[in-house]
Amino acid sequence: MGVRSLGYVRLESTDLDAWKLFAGDFIGAMQVDGGDPDTLSFRIDHHPARLVVRRGEANRMTAMGLEVLDRRELARLAAAVEAAGIAVTTGTAEECAERRVTGFVHLADPGGNPVELYYGPVLDHVPISTPLVSGFVTGDMGMGHVIVSAEDAEGTLNFYIDVLGFVERNTMGRTWFLGCNPRHHTFGIARRRGPGALMHLMVEMASLDDVGLALDRAERLGVPMMNSLGKHTNDHMVSFYVYSPERYAIECGWNGLRVLEEQPTYEITKGAFWGHKFTPPPNP
Ligand SMILES: [Fe+2]
Repeated sequence: MGVRSLGYVRLESTDLDAWKLFAGDFIGAMQVDGGDPDTLSFRIDHHPARLVVRRGEANRMTAMGLEVLDRRELARLAAAVEAAGIAVTTGTAEECAERRVTGFVHLADPGGNPVELYYGPVLDHVPISTPLVSGFVTGDMGMGHVIVSAEDAEGTLNFYIDVLGFVERNTMGRTWFLGCNPRHHTFGIARRRGPGALMHLMVEMASLDDVGLALDRAERLGVPMMNSLGKHTNDHMVSFYVYSPERYAIECGWNGLRVLEEQPTYEITKGAFWGHKFTPPPNP
């Protein structure tokens, strides 16, 4: 059965003020009290904070949270991960409370990317309030999608498919796009030298107007543009990309494909039908 969705992303950052502006004022996520002054927590739906940024020495992803069905499925997957030769650490009660989940295990994938498999999110029934965005598309498709780098791309790919239960949806050169629910891709792997790192995070908005208004906010707030408005050839998402405070590629999209029945995997030869004109990152 395997992973059901991307549940959350946890980052460490040297600049919380920049993230407050980026995730709150630009993306339009709802900042909530995470109980720690050195942490910013953002909700986009009734799940616990989907994006958590903790003040630290480095700029890196500390966890990609992947939701699984229940306690038994978590135990089964943790055993499968260990059988694949990868150590797992069980989250403590305190760590579970901080994440507002019932149980989780932490591990590093073969590319070195930090993963948390969890179950039992503690839902928040205080209605979400995001005045800047009419809504974020989550539900059975989870938070969005993430792309990480891995030097051992094949080993990492095999791990996500054979152990965690992802399905290969398509490829583009040295990048693989994997699904685990109707979202065309929840996860991607790009072959790069060096330790695994977060490259890209996508959130899907409920309307085209939400994406247009986010474009206006990017311009007004001076958020650097990475890819102009365009439409992807794999998930048909209409989106644009900006650079986050630490130069992650953040995509704001609308109307991504829902894959309701598995289709044979395929290779794409172009990322976009139109648009997505690339601008290199500004100098820091
Ligand atoms: Fe994307």
